[in-house]
Amino acid sequence: MSVPLSLPERLPAISLDGVSRTYTSGGSTVAALAQIDLRIARGETVAIAGPSGSGKTTLLNLVSGLDRPTAGTISVLGTRIDGASERELAEFRARHVGLVFEDPHLLSGLTALENLVAARLPFGHWRDLQAQARGLLIELGLGERLDAPPSRLSAGERQRVGLARALMGQPELLLADEPTGNLDAGTTEELIGLLERVRREHDLTIVVCTHDPAVAAFAERVVRLVGGRVDGEQRLDRPGPLEVRTLEEP
Ligand SMILES: Nc1ncnc2c1ncn2[C@@H]1O[C@H](COP(=O)(O)OP(=O)(O)OP(=O)(O)O)[C@@H](O)[C@H]1O
Ligand SMILES: [Mg+2]
Repeated sequence: MSVPLSLPERLPAISLDGVSRTYTSGGSTVAALAQIDLRIARGETVAIAGPSGSGKTTLLNLVSGLDRPTAGTISVLGTRIDGASERELAEFRARHVGLVFEDPHLLSGLTALENLVAARLPFGHWRDLQAQARGLLIELGLGERLDAPPSRLSAGERQRVGLARALMGQPELLLADEPTGNLDAGTTEELIGLLERVRREHDLTIVVCTHDPAVAAFAERVVRLVGGRVDGEQRLDRPGPLEVRTLEEP
C-alpha cells in the first residue's frame, strides 16, 4: 500500500471503501448498505443518524467485525478486518473495541462488579479484573452499587455498568448502538456527559448510532444514512460537549 504524501491531521481510526452489505433471504435481496465510503479519525466522535432501517446498526456491526461486508474494504485501527476469520475478529474486538448496546443485557445472577469481571475472564486474572472493574465503576459514579444485582439498578445505572464493561479491555474504539434508547431525557444527558468524559480520559474514538438529536449533538460530526447510503454529513463545532461537560462537573 502506498503512503499518502501529506498525512491527514489525525490518522484514520476507521476507513470504509465501497462497502456494501446485502441480505438475501427467500429469493429477495435487501441492500442494507450500499457503496459506503467513510473515514473516521482517531479521537473523533461521530454520530450515525438516519431513519429506522437506514443501515446504522449494519454499519456498526461491520466496523466491530460482528458482521462482514458483501463488498468493499474496512480498516479499523490500521488493520484490514473485512477478510479476517471469526477467531481473528473476536480477538480484535477483545483487544481494541468496546461495545455498548441499547440494552446492556447484564447477567441477572451477578453483581455489577461481577458482570464486568465475567465479561473479561478469558483475558485476565480474577484479581486484576476485579481491581479494574472496581476502578471503572467508581469512575462512572457507581462506587456505591458495586455489589448490586442488575434488578436493583435503575435503567441509567445499568447502562453505566454496560459502559464500564465496554471499557474493561482498555479499548481505543467505543461503538454504541442507540445507547440512550431506554433512557429518559435527564438520564440521557447524564450518559452523554459520561461518554464525553471517558472519551477524553480514555483517549477514545467513539461512533454512536442514534435517533436522539441530543446524542447526535454530542458528536463532532453527524453522518446521516438514508436507505443504506450516506445522505450527507454535518460537522458540529462542538459547543454541545463543552456545555455538557460544564453541567457534569461541579
Ligand atoms: N439479518 C438480516 N436479514 C435481513 N435483513 C436485515 C438483517 N439485518 C438488517 N436487515 C435489513 O437491513 C436494513 C438496515 O437495517 P439496520 O438494522 O442496519 O437499520 P437501522 O438503521 O439500525 O434501524 P433502527 O433505527 O431501526 O435500529 C433494514 O432494511 C433491515 O430490515
Ligand atoms: Mg439499529
